[in-house]
Amino acid sequence: MSGNVRPEDMKRITTRELADEFIAQQIKELREQIGDKKVLLALSGGVDSSVCAALLIKAVGKQLTCVHVNHGLLRKGEPEQVIRVFRDQMDANLIYVDAVDRFLDKLAGVSDPETKRKIIGKEFIDVFAEEAAKLDGIRFLGQGTIYPDILESVGVKAHHNVGGLPPELDFELVEPVKLLFKDEVRVVGEALGLPHSMVYRQPFPGPGLGVRCVGAITRDRLEALREADAIVREEIGKLPETPWQYFCIIPDLQSTGIKYVDGQGKRYMGWAVIIRAINTVDAVTATVPEIPFDILCKMRDQIVKIPGVNRVLWDISEKPVATIEWE
Ligand code: XMP
Repeated sequence: MSGNVRPEDMKRITTRELADEFIAQQIKELREQIGDKKVLLALSGGVDSSVCAALLIKAVGKQLTCVHVNHGLLRKGEPEQVIRVFRDQMDANLIYVDAVDRFLDKLAGVSDPETKRKIIGKEFIDVFAEEAAKLDGIRFLGQGTIYPDILESVGVKAHHNVGGLPPELDFELVEPVKLLFKDEVRVVGEALGLPHSMVYRQPFPGPGLGVRCVGAITRDRLEALREADAIVREEIGKLPETPWQYFCIIPDLQSTGIKYVDGQGKRYMGWAVIIRAINTVDAVTATVPEIPFDILCKMRDQIVKIPGVNRVLWDISEKPVATIEWE
């Protein structure tokens, strides 16, 4: 796809038919651009990188190498889904990097949110660059840039970008969805055969659960958060209308709980899990939708069974005054 400006007469991709047309055109253009050269892509499993990967797989198959870095801050089941979809179903060249210890060791004891973000961003680039250095003959770097990223609108990625790519990753860019809006990327993703849960997943910050495990991340609190997040995604995901974003936060604070052992009440300290669900158009302002009380109770009953957790709260703060994430 050449040029960074969406032509005025470009049709909005709203149907399967239009998506198929777009895909056929992209395959042709990608083959022309790439020829017999090799392409590298950081595949997070998010909508944009997944659709970009699926297009490249259709166009150039094994000339593409996808690198999936598991930094330990992904949601439950995400790395497994990336492997299942791309390696098993699409037969892609996929390098899975288990970098969990590396990230969590670097983050140990770090409580400042922006420092955490910087560490995660830098470590990600380092891991990716190390993987790239092991490969021979890479000529192109695939990227799931989408049109709002180019417009630098109030988009999620734009104001949180960690910085540019280092010189060792300075390959020629291949950005097949760069003129598409998010809703179009999703239609194209489904036409490419990606699972609905991948294509329609809610926005998830680059630093992942790292900014929801408030303060210095510990492995036990992070695990509790991952479990709670899976419960909330499952239960709120069943609502007829799902909020724009719905997730959990685990603050670095404990409160008293009580356990009955042989009829004897025993006090202990446990973590609180906070449920957050918001609606927004552009993430600049956000409102809080009503969640039926029985659903809240259903989530509570499951969350308090997670080891170390003894309290569940619901964040009803709007943006402004609060931000969407807790840090
Ligand atoms: P806030 O918390 O600023 O969030 O109201 C606005 C939107 O941005 C997402 N967010 C991030 N996305 N990297 C990202 O890619 C980040 O560091 C980051 N922090 C917040 C947040 O999930 C919400 O959708």
